[in-house]
Amino acid sequence: MKEQIASSAEAAVSEVVNVKAAALSLIAAAADMKELENARVSVLGKKGSFSVLQQGMRNVPKEDKPAVGALLNEARAAITEALDARMAELQRLADAQSVAGIDITLPGETLPPGGLHPISLVREEAVRILRRMGFTLSDGPEIEDEWHCFDALNTPEDHPARNEKDTFYFDSGKLLRTQTSTVQARVMEKQAPPVRIICPGSAFRRDAIDATHLSAFNQIEGLYVDKHVSVGDLKGTLEYFLKALFGSETAVRFRPHFFPFTEPSFEIDVLLQAAGQAPRWIEIAGCGMVNPAVFENIDKATGRSDYAGCTGFAFGIGLERLAMIRWGIRDIRLLIENDVRFLAQFQ
Ligand code: DAH
Repeated sequence: MKEQIASSAEAAVSEVVNVKAAALSLIAAAADMKELENARVSVLGKKGSFSVLQQGMRNVPKEDKPAVGALLNEARAAITEALDARMAELQRLADAQSVAGIDITLPGETLPPGGLHPISLVREEAVRILRRMGFTLSDGPEIEDEWHCFDALNTPEDHPARNEKDTFYFDSGKLLRTQTSTVQARVMEKQAPPVRIICPGSAFRRDAIDATHLSAFNQIEGLYVDKHVSVGDLKGTLEYFLKALFGSETAVRFRPHFFPFTEPSFEIDVLLQAAGQAPRWIEIAGCGMVNPAVFENIDKATGRSDYAGCTGFAFGIGLERLAMIRWGIRDIRLLIENDVRFLAQFQ
């Protein structure tokens, strides 16, 4: 519509009527969304028929402007409404076409609900109990250096754990941490006592996998340092924790052991009662009183004397082992095979 609205009122009115009628029939004829969009542009676009018409308003005599203006508004509303209606109709047709031949009354396929892995479940439960006892969460990297994994923790160069056969080393000299005890060193480097932290996390060893060992496994580390911390605190804390987790009847035993970073050191066993098997003790944690040599290493590294005169206890609990006892799981490998028949039992 190139010509502008004529200067007389009647001519203007008939222009509006014509443009509107042409626009409505264009819209009604649009066979798909693309054609409808083209129609919209050719009517309401910057150079569209209706826009050109509106610009012509300035030629209408002043006294006729209100009447012609009202007519224009009414025409624009009718065009917009027709566009919306046609769009809805085309959408309905497209929807109907896309489901043609499909019985939409058939029930859908249901996705079975997922659940948390038993390791996650037992970790959450263990962390909840330990937090209630005043421990706070800490964290550290899985790719570590020898200082945090061994040297700071009083582990000599020739200790078997440092052997290439037992630890995954990178060419750079870094390693996959063999224990979450690394976090003990990291926390004490940063923080002055008192310290009361736990750190759940993964650890890695070049172990052969069998019914009670994995090469990638999970631990919860704990460290409590203050003045006058005793073996009694250590025993009381861990016994309380294990009974809160497994029930007050749980049989727990502490066996003397050796770790370079604790003195004295213990291993903790809990009685595993798996279905169809005779009860047996399984080792679930190592623990002990922090070796004064560790405090000295930290103070030497930081150049402070934060830890002089402190005592403390530390522990490292195997999460897979906790899960085995918690649910009577006879073989640790069930925890990494991801057989849904096994996992579904924990939902
Ligand atoms: N890091 C030891 C391990 O993985 C477990 C352990 C023993 C952790 C004694 C401790 C500890 O914090 O005090 O076998």
